[in-house]
Amino acid sequence: MDAIEKQIRELRDQINAHNHKYYVLNQPDISDYDFDQMLKQLEKLELEHPEYDDPLSPTHRVGSDLTKEFEQIEHLHPMLSLSNTYSVEEVDQWVERTERALAGQESDLVGEMKFDGTSISLIYEHGRLVRAVTRGDGERGDVVTDNIKTIRSIPLQLAPGDWPEIFELRGEVLLPWKEFERLNAERAFNEEPLFANPRNAAAGTLKLQDPKIVAQRHLDAYFYYLLGENLPSTTHYGNMEAVKRWGFKVPDQMKILHDMKEVDEYIKYWDTARRELPVATDGLVFKVNSLQQQLNLGYTAKSPRWAIAYKFQAERACTELKFVSFDVGRMGIITPVANLVPVLLSGTMVKRASMHNQDIMQDQLDIHEHDMLYVEKGGEIIPKIVGVDLEARKPDAKKVIFVTHCPACGSPLVRKDGEAAWICPNKYGCPPQITGRVEHFVGRRMMNIDGIGEEISNALFEAGFVHNIADLYTLTREQLLTLEGFGEKSADRLLKGIQDSLKVPFERVLYALSIPYVGETTAKKIARSCRSIDRLMNMTEEELCAIEDVGGVLARCIIEYFASPINREIIERLRQAGVQLAMEEEDESLKSDKLAGKVIVISGVFAKHSRDEYKKMIELNGGKNSGSISKKTTFVLAGENMGPAKLEKAQALGVPIINEDQFLELLQ
Ligand code: IVH
Repeated sequence: MDAIEKQIRELRDQINAHNHKYYVLNQPDISDYDFDQMLKQLEKLELEHPEYDDPLSPTHRVGSDLTKEFEQIEHLHPMLSLSNTYSVEEVDQWVERTERALAGQESDLVGEMKFDGTSISLIYEHGRLVRAVTRGDGERGDVVTDNIKTIRSIPLQLAPGDWPEIFELRGEVLLPWKEFERLNAERAFNEEPLFANPRNAAAGTLKLQDPKIVAQRHLDAYFYYLLGENLPSTTHYGNMEAVKRWGFKVPDQMKILHDMKEVDEYIKYWDTARRELPVATDGLVFKVNSLQQQLNLGYTAKSPRWAIAYKFQAERACTELKFVSFDVGRMGIITPVANLVPVLLSGTMVKRASMHNQDIMQDQLDIHEHDMLYVEKGGEIIPKIVGVDLEARKPDAKKVIFVTHCPACGSPLVRKDGEAAWICPNKYGCPPQITGRVEHFVGRRMMNIDGIGEEISNALFEAGFVHNIADLYTLTREQLLTLEGFGEKSADRLLKGIQDSLKVPFERVLYALSIPYVGETTAKKIARSCRSIDRLMNMTEEELCAIEDVGGVLARCIIEYFASPINREIIERLRQAGVQLAMEEEDESLKSDKLAGKVIVISGVFAKHSRDEYKKMIELNGGKNSGSISKKTTFVLAGENMGPAKLEKAQALGVPIINEDQFLELLQ
């Protein structure tokens, strides 16, 4: 081995050891800065000596720019599930059953957490991670190795130890509560749909096609099952200790239990203590410790007889119903909401809970005035009413009846055949529908007009200034200054936001219009297919159905939307205001082949044009945009704050770096 190779290997070992201290043991012993320096040094050496590159090097944790469909593969051993129970008695019966089946042999059990994430199977050969596979249907799963490599607590290359040549390790990929909350706060800010619980968030993240986004989500993983030949121990507990030695995270809460009494105590303790854990758990798992005894007990068709899962009851509280209110959404849907005497549930005060629709409120729950309601919050963020304490109901309590008229505008409600929702049909006169559409229109992912939330949108409506989205474009400074809380600065800022929205491309305008069922993705597909609102307004149902993702119901909604004279007038006024109602046609005079055959990487922040504009210029002039620097890169177009890794890579490969002035000159 030459000196360089030796140096590279030593650096990798040191970095792996620091990763383990930081991500598994929570005991870093060098500063982040020193760690980054080591990583940079390794990156540099690997770039200079590509012959020693290794896909499992710690420098490759963030994945490449490549995105791809997942390959599917058959599991070495099928991934079974566990039999479940919510009752301590049934766990006790299982303990008795296994003792009987083992005919009086001495037998220990192991108690551990049941993690509420998404399961993963890792295959290691000669101490190297060769593949990570999701559960899939239990027989076959998706190969998600690149995404798993982003999880820093998973060692990619094991230090020398007593690991078998080939083994499989099963565990759970999780999004810790802290990361889950951070991710949802970020999504709320961007007006993206929230994840209901960390499990959905973890499963969704593992299936992302871009490992770079996966890396930003900070997943973690705990392991609970080792399979293979020549395992280090004859017990489950012993094997888990070995797995821990090899550098993986195993649950600290794991405990050997000798009898039913200890099992019951373990359940009692963790039923409450689990709330302090940094990750979501939905129960406990009990396993027979001896692998020989596991073998003797065997399996049913679906699950091992040597294990059972005890599931925690979702957190539940009982509180009094103050009154039921009926919310009106921007599409006119009426939602019954239970307004409650505030109650603490999983650390948050719950005051309101949705009851979804009439059938659930009146028939399933049969809500009466001042009922005592059970409110539950599992891993979910939105609390739900799961039942009524009938014994606490007063004999003369009246049944709560769903409204027949809109609580906001008084219109008689309508319900379409076969649908659960009652709707207020007064689309253009019902205040919460009007203000709701304005709020949607100005949203970040739509017209991106800052400064209009629920309150301002209500104030603009009440003052008589904004009755529909087109009115936004005739708002004056004088009008705004009459509103409470508006100073000259805030008025000017809002007017500028409105003016800037004239640049928003047609596909986002289409999404902003609040056409029923036209979400962000559908809007994009429709816009790219029809190219302009004039064409869309005249399309037949058949033509609309030919667009990807558009079916009969959606096609009829679009036709109905444009059939309304009110909507047509709004569109005309938006057109006069200068809102983009067609896809931008590519200006022939801007096209050239000046960059033909050139592969260009953009990095950093620019002063004269946005990154997207530069990307477009490159395409229009025949060049190709690329996300990562390689030998094929013709040059890097660099702005301020170009990433240091990119800079170093470009320099190492001798790729020229040009600034925006030089680039614009090139196109002159
Ligand atoms: S053992 C043969 N242990 O629960 C069964 N599973 O319903 C091996 N799970 O798919 C699984 N925590 O995703 C085991 N400590 C734990 C677990 C656990 C969570 C999940 C796992 C499995 C499901 C079974």
